[in-house]
Amino acid sequence: MHSVRVTASSAAYDVLIGKGVIDTIGQAARDRLGRPARRAFLVVDSGLPASWINRAAASIAAAGYQVSQAALTATESHKSLSALQGLLSEMAAGKLERFEPVFALGGGIVGDVAGFAAASYRRGVPVIQCPTTLLAMVDASVGGKTGVNLEASGTLKKNLVGAFHQPLLVVADVESLHSLPDRHFRAGLAECIKHGMISAGDGALKADPGLFTWTASNLRAILARDPAVLTELITRNVRVKAAVVGTDEREELPSEQGGRALLNLGHTFGHAIETIPHLSPDGTPEHAPLHHGEAVAVGLVAAAHCSLGAGLCNDGLVKQVEAAVAAAGLPTRLAGLPPSDRLLELMSHDKKVVGGKLRVVLPVGEKPGTCSVVESSDATAIMHGWNSVRA
Ligand SMILES: NC(=O)c1ccc[n+]([C@@H]2O[C@H](COP(=O)([O-])OP(=O)(O)OC[C@H]3O[C@@H](n4cnc5c(N)ncnc54)[C@H](O)[C@@H]3O)[C@@H](O)[C@H]2O)c1
Repeated sequence: MHSVRVTASSAAYDVLIGKGVIDTIGQAARDRLGRPARRAFLVVDSGLPASWINRAAASIAAAGYQVSQAALTATESHKSLSALQGLLSEMAAGKLERFEPVFALGGGIVGDVAGFAAASYRRGVPVIQCPTTLLAMVDASVGGKTGVNLEASGTLKKNLVGAFHQPLLVVADVESLHSLPDRHFRAGLAECIKHGMISAGDGALKADPGLFTWTASNLRAILARDPAVLTELITRNVRVKAAVVGTDEREELPSEQGGRALLNLGHTFGHAIETIPHLSPDGTPEHAPLHHGEAVAVGLVAAAHCSLGAGLCNDGLVKQVEAAVAAAGLPTRLAGLPPSDRLLELMSHDKKVVGGKLRVVLPVGEKPGTCSVVESSDATAIMHGWNSVRA
């Protein structure tokens, strides 16, 4: 088992990574709680195999907790205030008290909704994140962002309502990834490639300068879901996320100092296309819409071309990014993209607009590893980025 310590300004906690760690979640939580607790509330992703849910519940019960359980359907439309209310009502019906823990077993959707329920129930009860997707293991479960989507003015606004609530503990069992559908697994790799593209930067962000190259050279074993290689992949990615969260827990650092804003690499582009219903990773209507990781993958390629257009990186960097994204089975080009001025408008709806200037994170230099946050009102390089990812 590997362990990474996350030290944020509001809390410090461990991320336990390995094969079989799910069987320790109950006792590991009890050891860290520091107070007597009789009950625990387990929120599970309804898409998980029953055997996995039973294993988690058994571990919690074996540590002496009386467990009540609720299931969530992991779709963006279920990541809602009504799902939150459902959980809160069940927590109240189960008489969960102030220091009794919530366990979130599932992907990023379950982690976000159950985490927000834990943040708001009795003004905050402990949450143990038990991610079961690659994306949630390397990204969503670490850092304390929780929340739900909100329907407003006829559109679904992603993650508009939420809270920062750092977990008591994160437990990532690589064995759970065996049942994860291939498309979701590959989508998680987009975040790993992204981490490799920011982890050779300055200061605290010099978390793992070799990560991009290591990921590219171990891709075959990663795609075969080799438990030892997955444990290393997740550990190294969590270290990068922990380094960023440790310097800037609430994304408050000025953009020129980087901080948590760097995690938005590929996302300013990706968010603009993620909700366009007809876009599909391979151009076929049955695979539309894009998954978050697929949109980020195209976003990483667009950001690299944008940087090239702005004269901030060389052609070799762009080629390496494209090769890594393609080798992971993720899209580098998309058919049916809207006109670039429409994409620019969609980007400007994103929260990364500051004082009318668009803020984008771009890879810089000669090889992937270092990024800069660039604020610009000149759209030429951004248009170049978009035009480069048209199929
Ligand atoms: N809080 C954060 O910091 C943060 C960061 C990134 C993403 N997110 C959020 O995470 C969400 C996406 O999460 P995700 O990509 O982890 O997936 P997900 O929660 O959307 O789940 C994807 C699918 O995989 C299924 N699934 C999950 N684990 C499985 C397993 N082990 N075996 C079989 N099926 C399994 C689910 O039932 C679902 O059908 C988005 O809502 C996004 O906004 C949050």
